[in-house]
Amino acid sequence: MAKKIVTDLDVCGKKVLMRLDFNVPMKDGIITDENRIIAALPTIKYVLEKGGKVIAFSHLGKVKEEADLQKRDISPVAKRLSDLLNQPVKFINATRGEELEKAISELKDGEILMFQNTRFEDLNGKKESKNDPELGKYWASLGDLFVNDAFGTAHRAHASNVGIAENIGAENSAVGFLMEKEINFIGKAVDMPERPLVAILGGSKVSDKIGVIENLLIKADKILIGGAMMFTFFRALGKNTGKSLVEEDKIDLAKSLLEKANGKIVLPVDTVVASEFSNDAPHRVVSINEIPDGEMGLDIGPETNKLFASELIGAKTVIWNGPMGVFEMPNYAKGTIGVCESIANLQNAITVIGGGDSAAAAISLGFADKFSHISTGGGASLEYLEGKKLPGIEAISNK
Ligand code: 3PG
Repeated sequence: MAKKIVTDLDVCGKKVLMRLDFNVPMKDGIITDENRIIAALPTIKYVLEKGGKVIAFSHLGKVKEEADLQKRDISPVAKRLSDLLNQPVKFINATRGEELEKAISELKDGEILMFQNTRFEDLNGKKESKNDPELGKYWASLGDLFVNDAFGTAHRAHASNVGIAENIGAENSAVGFLMEKEINFIGKAVDMPERPLVAILGGSKVSDKIGVIENLLIKADKILIGGAMMFTFFRALGKNTGKSLVEEDKIDLAKSLLEKANGKIVLPVDTVVASEFSNDAPHRVVSINEIPDGEMGLDIGPETNKLFASELIGAKTVIWNGPMGVFEMPNYAKGTIGVCESIANLQNAITVIGGGDSAAAAISLGFADKFSHISTGGGASLEYLEGKKLPGIEAISNK
């Protein structure tokens, strides 16, 4: 059943509390990746254009001690948001209290303010992260309506998403356009995919992806595995993996996943090896049956790229999570680029990147517009791909 979305609410003249995921990477107060801010704009603009008063908020990192208050100050995001919206975003350096309440009461239709990092409330007793009932109730009391567009935080049951939704009343809350898109693409790809559904999983560790592999073994028609986690599977098959990264304690698990897969899992046939974890180290392509003792695999090889491209032919839905190699180093990026190209070449397929490193890879390698959807979630996308219910989504009622 579809969730209520922002267009189901009458926002004109209303104080609209809007939970966004502005947990963006920052260096010395400078935002280094603003994709999450860009992705939130359609919902914010919609509410402003409809004459709503937007009260925007988000967490930023973790706040455990006094020193974090300066490091996790979210005001640079408010400044950037103001540039992107081309209108003032009043920043309130507080998460509660008189100044915030007064600023909200003075907001005019079509105006927006943003308040400080919701996790500043974690400093004294983890009120935000433990969904303290008083905090959720207080924040809910500040607005008439609640719009949750923070997909990246949907796997958390915190006061600023679940707490507010529980207190503001089912009829007064909805998801935003970004959340709707994430549900439509990731949720649908896993639950009601157009078949064949092919999943491509990479990244360094099997342990990070156990739940995803187990769920996709049931849901997908094929799973292509790359990234360093392939070596744990190779060890499960009794192959020599040289100095490659292997999770020794997950070899048995990899064995049982291969047994359960009943042929659904497709593993690489070649790999790029080097003697050191360095872009400058001499490197070459070898068959996965010939990985030398003193070398480590850092990418999938060209034959694997061809194999994966042929396995993708005819796919109607593709879900990709995790890079194929150390894509940050140009000499080991070809596997990830190859997968981007194979997916980009598919006709009439729904192609979804499940967030995290693979999203960063596709964007930095110039393929951002070649996918149907690139998720803004990291942990949230993984849990969604595992088939788990996400509390931030569950807290919003159905239409
Ligand atoms: C994320 O970046 O995955 C989300 O913003 C959630 O952040 P968290 O892991 O600190 O809860």
